[in-house]
Amino acid sequence: MTHRRPLAAANWKMNKTLAECASFFETLNAKLPKSTACDVVVCPPFTLLERSVSLARNQVALGAQDLFWEAQGAYTGEISGMMLRDIGCKYVIIGHSERRQHFGETNQSVNKKVSAALKQSLVPILCVGETLQEMESGRTKQVVQTQLEEGLKGISLQGDFVLAYEPVWAIGTGKSDTPEQSNQTIGFVRTVLAKAAGQEFAARTRILYGGSVKPDNIKAFMAQPEIDGGLVGGASLDPHSFLSIVEAIGA
Ligand code: PGA
Repeated sequence: MTHRRPLAAANWKMNKTLAECASFFETLNAKLPKSTACDVVVCPPFTLLERSVSLARNQVALGAQDLFWEAQGAYTGEISGMMLRDIGCKYVIIGHSERRQHFGETNQSVNKKVSAALKQSLVPILCVGETLQEMESGRTKQVVQTQLEEGLKGISLQGDFVLAYEPVWAIGTGKSDTPEQSNQTIGFVRTVLAKAAGQEFAARTRILYGGSVKPDNIKAFMAQPEIDGGLVGGASLDPHSFLSIVEAIGA
């Protein structure tokens, strides 16, 4: 079996001031062991990214929560992959359900963004997941398959790439998916990825679970063979709670 190094990713969403960000890294830097058995990525809002790059210890990589697909130009309000690369950002979340829900993100825009990220050697953390209604009508597989196929259309995948399966109904609700069910869906996502990018690529690509990950449920998710880590929202805002999740993911 291919060994996949686990990954713990924090998604701060629209949270934290500069002072709160500094205090988070102060605690994280003091408590994080010198070497962790998992990769650690923190995704702050754009305003905190550059500062975070200098505050974070070497082993903690920074990620953005979105990007625009053009490199530069007259696109008021947007941030490009080139700009993210320039400040030392390594990862970028793409297609988060909140972008899809509130900001008109589609599989087509996701596709352009994945391609732009790869062009800048940024590692995409591509998010897929079904809504409550889609889950209740038994369409989970169909939905994630379409999101993945359309999101990756025409893109030749190589190098590092991360997927996150996040059932929309589990995000920020405190109602996580069951470890068994998410393991099954993630296994299915891996087969879809294998069709798009080859067996070998799919076998080494990390697929995270996201949606109400907490210090007290992460172990059960990590015990599942298909789950390679977590994309953590609410529970990543407090450094102590994020640290215990990192510890469990690296255990
Ligand atoms: P949550 O968010 O952990 O607060 O549910 C996860 C996410 O949206 O990435």
